[in-house]
Amino acid sequence: MRADSAITDNTVIITASHCLQQDVSLITFRCPEIARAARPGNFVNIKISPHKEPLLRRPFSIHNVDGDSIEIMAKSVGCGTALLCSTPVGAELQVLGPLGNAFTVDTPQFEIALLISGGIGTAPMRFLEKTLLAAGKKVYHVIGGKTKKDIQTRGLTNCHIATEDGSDGFRGTAIDLLQERFDFFAGSGTVKLFSCGPNPMLKALAAFCKKKKLPCEASLESIMGCGIGICYGCTVELKNTSGRETSMILLCQEGPVIDAERLLF
Ligand SMILES: Cc1cc2nc3c(=O)[nH]c(=O)nc-3n(C[C@H](O)[C@H](O)[C@H](O)COP(=O)(O)OP(=O)(O)OC[C@H]3O[C@@H](n4cnc5c(N)ncnc54)[C@H](O)[C@@H]3O)c2cc1C
Ligand code: FES
Repeated sequence: MRADSAITDNTVIITASHCLQQDVSLITFRCPEIARAARPGNFVNIKISPHKEPLLRRPFSIHNVDGDSIEIMAKSVGCGTALLCSTPVGAELQVLGPLGNAFTVDTPQFEIALLISGGIGTAPMRFLEKTLLAAGKKVYHVIGGKTKKDIQTRGLTNCHIATEDGSDGFRGTAIDLLQERFDFFAGSGTVKLFSCGPNPMLKALAAFCKKKKLPCEASLESIMGCGIGICYGCTVELKNTSGRETSMILLCQEGPVIDAERLLF
């Protein structure tokens, strides 16, 4: 658990739930305790139903903080997320957070932030963009998906879209598009990249950043149980910062945000 622990476990009531696309919903609940303490990149661990199934909580990035309210963007991929996406306004959830570390935003070492996301990996980018703009940074998004229906741009500005089938924006991957437009994005400023998405995208991005010697933080996913360092369900192997050996880390504690140089895949 974080040393400055502001983590609370809260019974909250869903105040809004909108279907953004067939399998993606935006869910809002009021939770001043988490809203006050949240930083971009943090996640919450949600007990979706008071019943036995699903037994374990499920982790979701904080999509947005608006006053006392928290928004999450959930994609239905299995029993827990399907239930969450169909849970009506007025229902209760049990929400633990804010959990994990955060993107490093408030440093003078960069002027331009490139936010690279794929699929539901766009979920943490709204809160991140708001925080970067408040810190006086210029922000561009590069958002990739297999097809148009995988792209989420809600609440985001300066979006550059790539779809593998060409149904929206540039035809190709988010990293192909980044390569093509990098000089335009970078202009004459110093750049840092922030990313969240599928592992093949993160791998290609890490290689691009290594070649160009650019700093990059990536938010990773793993199966999680407790979210607070007890169950050891979220172990991930990463390179040490020296780049030579590897270590197993608990992603809910040392992550989900890591330096992309540490990625093994
Ligand atoms: C830090 C963190 C932040 C996340 N943020 C979001 C978010 O903002 N929005 C969102 O929609 N999802 C997010 N996820 C993924 C989400 O937690 C999983 O999709 C969810 O737990 C699946 O639960 P389920 O009961 O629907 O699926 P299950 O029925 O448990 O499993 C269905 C399928 O999904 C796979 N799966 C389960 N958990 C994960 C996981 N963590 N990552 C990848 N695949 C998984 C299973 O292997 C299985 O194939 C995040 C995960 C992490 C670790
Ligand atoms: S999810 Fe339990 S230790 Fe990380």
